[in-house]
Amino acid sequence: MKTIIYTEYGNPEVLKVQEMLKPYPKDGEVLIKVQAVSVNFGDLIARRFRYVSAKDFNMPFLIWIFAKLSFGLKSPRIKILGNSFAGTIEQTGSDVRNFRVGDDVFGYTGEKMGAYSEYLCVSEKGLLAHKPTNTSYEEASTIPYGSLIALCLLKKVNIEREQKVLVFGASGGIGSAVVQLAKNHFGAEVTGVCSTERVDYVKKLGAGNVIDYKREEFSKNGETYDHIIDILGKGYNSSYKTLLNRKGTYLFVSFKAKNLLQMLWTKISGQKKVICALVSPHAKDLQFIKELVEEDKIRTVIDRVFKIDQAPEAHRHAESAARKGDVVIKLTREA
Ligand SMILES: NC(=O)c1ccc[n+]([C@@H]2O[C@H](COP(=O)([O-])OP(=O)(O)OC[C@H]3O[C@@H](n4cnc5c(N)ncnc54)[C@H](OP(=O)(O)O)[C@@H]3O)[C@@H](O)[C@H]2O)c1
Repeated sequence: MKTIIYTEYGNPEVLKVQEMLKPYPKDGEVLIKVQAVSVNFGDLIARRFRYVSAKDFNMPFLIWIFAKLSFGLKSPRIKILGNSFAGTIEQTGSDVRNFRVGDDVFGYTGEKMGAYSEYLCVSEKGLLAHKPTNTSYEEASTIPYGSLIALCLLKKVNIEREQKVLVFGASGGIGSAVVQLAKNHFGAEVTGVCSTERVDYVKKLGAGNVIDYKREEFSKNGETYDHIIDILGKGYNSSYKTLLNRKGTYLFVSFKAKNLLQMLWTKISGQKKVICALVSPHAKDLQFIKELVEEDKIRTVIDRVFKIDQAPEAHRHAESAARKGDVVIKLTREA
């Protein structure tokens, strides 16, 4: 089988196509013929992880150390990237109950990665579900990562209908799903914040209002919000309380140790809450997302689809300002 592997950290050219032995499903596992895999934040950062400093890593120092050890200090331990995928079940191990050969599926392997490959074995009890019937493989592959994290994070903030939600980082993998879930599932009024290049993309996702952070300071237009969801922590400033309505919450998707202390303090002092949360999605969350996609409450906006031997180009495009939506690598040979 063809696989995109990398054996050293670096620029997109470290990604090479290599022939490898096809895996065999163990008990409780399914063998998936991967049709498409999306390129997301985790792939881009893992590819150059040796060069990602604690300062650049948007999480507490201890999580950075843990991630360094788990991904490999000088060279990658996990050599196949890709965690959000769609494909077809080709074989099942013994004791598999929920999936059959020929089923179309989509799923998420998280930090285990491994989906930049024509074949992938995963546990049937992992983050795997039948593919939404109204999506192509390419569209379906873009959904699990952002939607799973976004859904689990939004459960922490109790959004009510017609509340005002600001998403800072609305054009990325998680932010684009937060925009759609907040609006279409929770019924909120959503304002997205992103760069000039992606304003139209965030409008297409359904944000009622979009602020270009390169041209406007979102905190200076007099608006206030019930919830601010800040993806990279770039929207935070010390006067955040004045931007929140009574009982408002400020949710950090990426956070530092000082934000954890703020969370503790706002909890005990009864102030407008700061929330930092690390989430671990469950299979039932993916099943729920499949239903939301079929109800048209979550959509994908694919920017470009690349062939398996164009992985460096796919990464370069995903990292560029030209990106305006999801980037996908199609793994089938006829692509
Ligand atoms: N809490 C959890 O459980 C959890 C789980 C997974 C990941 N994470 C964290 O989530 C983050 C990745 O999120 P993602 O996949 O959505 O990332 P992403 O796809 O790279 O999107 C990043 C977003 O931030 C915006 N942005 C980038 N630079 C900016 C700047 N200088 N000022 C303002 N906005 C800026 C981008 O807007 P433009 O592109 O328009 O500039 C984009 O909307 C990571 O830090 C990761 O650690 C947290």
